[in-house]
Amino acid sequence: MDKYLKTNRKNWDERVALHAASRFYNVAGFLRGKSSLLPLELKEVGPVKDRRLLHLQCHFGLDTLSWARRGASVTGADFSPKAIESARALSDRAGVPADFVLSDVYSLGRALGKFDIVYASYGALCWIGDLKRWFRTAARFLKPGGFLYVADDHPFAGVFDDDGRRVQVYRDCC
Ligand SMILES: C[S@@+](CC[C@H](N)C(=O)[O-])C[C@H]1O[C@@H](n2cnc3c(N)ncnc32)[C@H](O)[C@@H]1O
Repeated sequence: MDKYLKTNRKNWDERVALHAASRFYNVAGFLRGKSSLLPLELKEVGPVKDRRLLHLQCHFGLDTLSWARRGASVTGADFSPKAIESARALSDRAGVPADFVLSDVYSLGRALGKFDIVYASYGALCWIGDLKRWFRTAARFLKPGGFLYVADDHPFAGVFDDDGRRVQVYRDCC
């Protein structure tokens, strides 16, 4: 693993506990049954019951488990050991079955098999140095007729505050 990936992985290991305790991620709400998925994703991805879904860069699994609650058979993958440990614990705590795999996105093993849906969402692509390789990796896991769904911001948008009224440098973080 090169220096950039190691440094970034350390950054994500440190963020997991902070995010899991944050209002933004709202784990308590999830445990009460609330979905972390947004209406746009639900509409565009459509029904997932009995479909195999691979979640790339799943963080601590909130979205992965929200798809599982809708009936998908889910696998989440992330390169942060703390994220995967936390995702497995959340799966147990919520009683929602899921597989979580510790892996750098480019190194995901073919043994995972093929999926109906490969999914990634907000805050995933800005960490990726080689987007072509990322998309090739995602495509490798699709069944014929399956699809890749990405809901993400352009990384540059992260520089600015998003209150919709002013353009100013973003100062807060979840
Ligand atoms: C902002 S989070 C994604 C949040 C996500 N939308 C969710 O479901 O909670 C970005 C994730 O990408 C992961 N990540 C960054 N670079 C990666 C890489 N090269 N391979 C695998 N995971 C990576 C981080 O560990 C982190 O969990």
